[in-house]
Amino acid sequence: MIEPLGDMRRTHHCEELGAEHIGHEVVLMGWVQRRRDHGGVIFIDLRDRNGITQVVFNPEHNPAVHEKAHSIRSEFVLAVKGKVEKRPDGMTNPELVTGEIEVMADDLKILNRAQTPPFMIEDDIDVSENIRLQNRHIDLRRPKIQKNLITRHKASAAIRNYMNRNGFLDIETPVLTKSTPEGARDYLVPSRVNAGMFYALPQSPQLFKQLLMISGFDRYYQIVRCFRDEDLRADRQPEFTQVDMEMSFVGEEDVMAVAEGMVAAVFKEVLDITLETPFKRMTYAEAMDRFGLDRPDLRFGLELKDLSDIVEGSGFKVFANVVKKGGMVKAINAKGCENFSRKEIDDLTDFVAVYRAKGLAWIKVRETEWQSPIAKFFSDEEKQQMTDRLNMEPGDLVFFVADMPKITNDALGNLRNHLGAKLQLTDPNEFNFVWVTHFPMFEYDETEKRYQALHHPFTSPQESDYELLETDPLAVNSRAYDMVLNGSEIGGGSIRIHQKDLQVKILHALGMEKEEYEEKFGFLISALDSGAPPHGGLAFGLDRLMTILCGGDSIREVIAFPKTQKGACLLTQAPSAASREQLMELALKIDLA
Ligand code: AMO
Ligand code: AMP
Repeated sequence: MIEPLGDMRRTHHCEELGAEHIGHEVVLMGWVQRRRDHGGVIFIDLRDRNGITQVVFNPEHNPAVHEKAHSIRSEFVLAVKGKVEKRPDGMTNPELVTGEIEVMADDLKILNRAQTPPFMIEDDIDVSENIRLQNRHIDLRRPKIQKNLITRHKASAAIRNYMNRNGFLDIETPVLTKSTPEGARDYLVPSRVNAGMFYALPQSPQLFKQLLMISGFDRYYQIVRCFRDEDLRADRQPEFTQVDMEMSFVGEEDVMAVAEGMVAAVFKEVLDITLETPFKRMTYAEAMDRFGLDRPDLRFGLELKDLSDIVEGSGFKVFANVVKKGGMVKAINAKGCENFSRKEIDDLTDFVAVYRAKGLAWIKVRETEWQSPIAKFFSDEEKQQMTDRLNMEPGDLVFFVADMPKITNDALGNLRNHLGAKLQLTDPNEFNFVWVTHFPMFEYDETEKRYQALHHPFTSPQESDYELLETDPLAVNSRAYDMVLNGSEIGGGSIRIHQKDLQVKILHALGMEKEEYEEKFGFLISALDSGAPPHGGLAFGLDRLMTILCGGDSIREVIAFPKTQKGACLLTQAPSAASREQLMELALKIDLA
């Protein structure tokens, strides 16, 4: 029978109880974690948000309540009144915060029943993520996820405190809006009252925060949901949260200092760790050269070395030809990995193939010789130069990729991270921050045959590069910066363009004609012409930051109701079909042919 709460009032949370409460009468409310029937005496671990307390139902103490306790099962919801007692000698449980005490039940109300849960409410369960996501409301009862969401709450509170203290105003921006280009596809929302027209959900509040600067708000922030229809990976969600900020009358250093201060405040508050600021700086060019990626993990070595000059004249035609065609040959020395098996090397070859590398050449350095399919192609001089540049010593295993620079860097950069994890070179308790600066302004999109903004089109070029805008766009550096933590891009921003003419020039460079940019960004261009102050800002990926703070593997572990790799919410079954009536109202027809 399910009973009403009546006049029962909760007096304590489970984990609050300790020796100081012995002899007190308490009322606890929560869920049944576990029930054990010890031949007469029934023990229940009662769980609430704060923890677990053991409740005892003793037939000699209170036969009626004990009788009722027989029907209790896992995840039933109970209210229990009783006296806190010291556990008998030898019965204490040092694993529990409340392990010294128990509550001797005098009264019990079964507030609700529950079906047997599909999995145990504890950490380290062996259940597929899909089953957990289908039953997310139950999954969220597990201690680790509870802790993650509580940590996330603390981090948000620390962020708000820090931003408020520093004069930032929290201002909301629209969700039904116009496309803001951040490099992904838009989610569109059809308008009923404007048939055939669509809103776009914001990929970020980028343009609104710039408009707020133009309106004179000076310092803005928002913890805000952003929407991007892109291919999902472990660190991406279709809707995710940014800590978004913008400041007027600033340069790079001002924005970076605020961002560092904010991260430091979060680490202090959440982990009681004092971060050393300012963080390291590295140009994009250096990051690509040494690590192959624009988000280098600086917790370990295994740096990439460019061997193009050494091998361009070599007898290994694959390498020589790549260099001749403007490509690049780079290598990583995996120290002490000479014992890798053929299978391990094949697996790594498959790994780099994902990044479109056409092969993964290797050399095992033995005491007297190199064991390698390619060693025979190199002269003694070339071998000596490689040995010096890569610091090759007996026991080492060197990997090579030869390709166009983008592929070479991408393949080896990701291989480096993969090896770092495989060789356990990354300490999850180390927090290694670096700012990557001086990004190129544009990249060339081979499929679309046009330039694209590497950050977004509102990012200012470096002033010294203005002249290159027309002559050599790919050589133009921008005033963008990314904050990287342990190889993850946790935030990015830039100093913006605040002059109308320069903005128009950049949109031109991106292949937009007047008609197109007027239609898409006319409101921004005219705002820039209405007295726009110099301004800049940044946005953190809060989910990514939280994943690292919580020591998790996936962004989904720090989001209450996340989506799968295919953008589905398995709990609510979204997305789902619309009814005929809804489609008619929106003047939409579905054509799946
Ligand atoms: P950017 O596109 O770099 O910049 O985004 C800022 C940060 O948001 C996080 N992020 C994501 N997190 C989870 N899932 C995603 N799909 C996802 N996409 C991005 C990353 C990233 O560093 N308006 C600019 C900021 C600015 O210039 O001020 C912007 O949105 O951690
Ligand atoms: P092959 O001459 O094709 O048998 O290749 C000899 C070795 O070089 C093999 O280990 C290949 O994986 C490797 N290899 C081939 N092409 C490349 C490339 N573009 N970059 C790096 N290694 C390569």
